[in-house]
Amino acid sequence: MRRALALARGVWGETQPNPMVGAVLVEDGVIVAEGATAPDGGPHAERRALEALGRPPRPGATLYVTLEPCCTEGRTGACTARILAAGIRRVVVGAVDPNPAHAGRGLEVLRAAGVEVVSGVLAAECADLNLIFNHWITRGTPLLAAKVASTIDGKLACRTGDSQWITGEAARADVHRWRRLFPAIGVGAMTVLHDNPRLTVRPPGGAESCPVRFVFDGLLRTVVEKNLPRVFTDEFRGRTIVVTTPHGGLGYVRKLRDLGVQVWVIDSPSQRVPFAAFRRRCVEERISGVLIEGGAQLISELLRARELDYLFAYHAPLLFADDKARTIFSGLRPERVAQGVRLDEVRHESFGGDVLMRGRLVYPEKMLVDEAVFRLR
Ligand SMILES: NC(=O)c1ccc[n+]([C@@H]2O[C@H](COP(=O)([O-])OP(=O)(O)OC[C@H]3O[C@@H](n4cnc5c(N)ncnc54)[C@H](OP(=O)(O)O)[C@@H]3O)[C@@H](O)[C@H]2O)c1
Repeated sequence: MRRALALARGVWGETQPNPMVGAVLVEDGVIVAEGATAPDGGPHAERRALEALGRPPRPGATLYVTLEPCCTEGRTGACTARILAAGIRRVVVGAVDPNPAHAGRGLEVLRAAGVEVVSGVLAAECADLNLIFNHWITRGTPLLAAKVASTIDGKLACRTGDSQWITGEAARADVHRWRRLFPAIGVGAMTVLHDNPRLTVRPPGGAESCPVRFVFDGLLRTVVEKNLPRVFTDEFRGRTIVVTTPHGGLGYVRKLRDLGVQVWVIDSPSQRVPFAAFRRRCVEERISGVLIEGGAQLISELLRARELDYLFAYHAPLLFADDKARTIFSGLRPERVAQGVRLDEVRHESFGGDVLMRGRLVYPEKMLVDEAVFRLR
């Protein structure tokens, strides 16, 4: 199963809208064929492993697959039917498919046909591989995740604003790896104005590519500047979507559209885009996940609205110990530990001296909010 997981990771970010899956065929304890999901809705991993074998599997062969084989006729035909046709009598499965159309039915189909099925092997790791897909398919809404890079004391910049770089090269390369997986990245207006980021994917030695780039800018302050930010002028500007409100001004909307930048004007009583409406628009456009990369204000607003689903927190072995240094999160006022926001399904990874803690956010039933903080904004 570990080998199958490695195969699935080998097609990282290439399989949308399908999940990443790996499969391994074993005869007499020896791996004889391997497969991973093909790009762009192509054949699934099980089918590719069987094709790679190029002959019928020997009696007693075992198929290992990271995700439950599908049992519905999609574009590529049901994998359960292909497995049965190949005469495989033993299948070892990692995660059960969370897709309600499948959800264990593939296992039932195989068992009903007399196949020995072992499921749940390295299940958490296999499920984690498709965290965006799983959220999308079960909840029907995009996974809104935030990435933050901070010191041990939770600071993302010095009091002067200097923030480059808090984490090291390896951790920053990992962010690029996640960017490759998420169909979209998002940032707040102030991050665009301060940092003028490219928000592209730049794998070491690979070609630069660009996910959808959301800029949250309720008043279109990023358009006022004479020197426009590069997300509005570079060769990927057609991938930039400015998310704004009717309070932003029609002239600026026109200016952006003339540049070839997309604009979503979302109805709002204030200058802030309601995140629930933003989610609905993402569903309409089939955008299954957004990685919000800052800044502090946008991420804190998402948290307060209970709209942040997932967090990637990179911590550097660095201390500012300055209460005027900038903090990432603000605006909540828990009075008890139980009123804090916790991470579930937590995973840790290290990159040189830096540590990534990531997980799904679990909000307390009663979340106390500091109204004063948000009134000031
Ligand atoms: N260490 C890290 O991981 C990291 C990552 C990114 C950025 N940063 C740093 O963070 C700093 C910028 O952060 P920041 O907190 O000042 O600003 P920010 O969060 O980047 O941007 C805040 C702005 O976004 C707009 N906005 C927020 N929520 C919105 C909503 N719901 N709808 C529409 N617009 C919305 C608001 O515009 P209006 O005020 O016009 O409403 C607000 O002023 C930079 O210095 C950058 O270097 C650090």
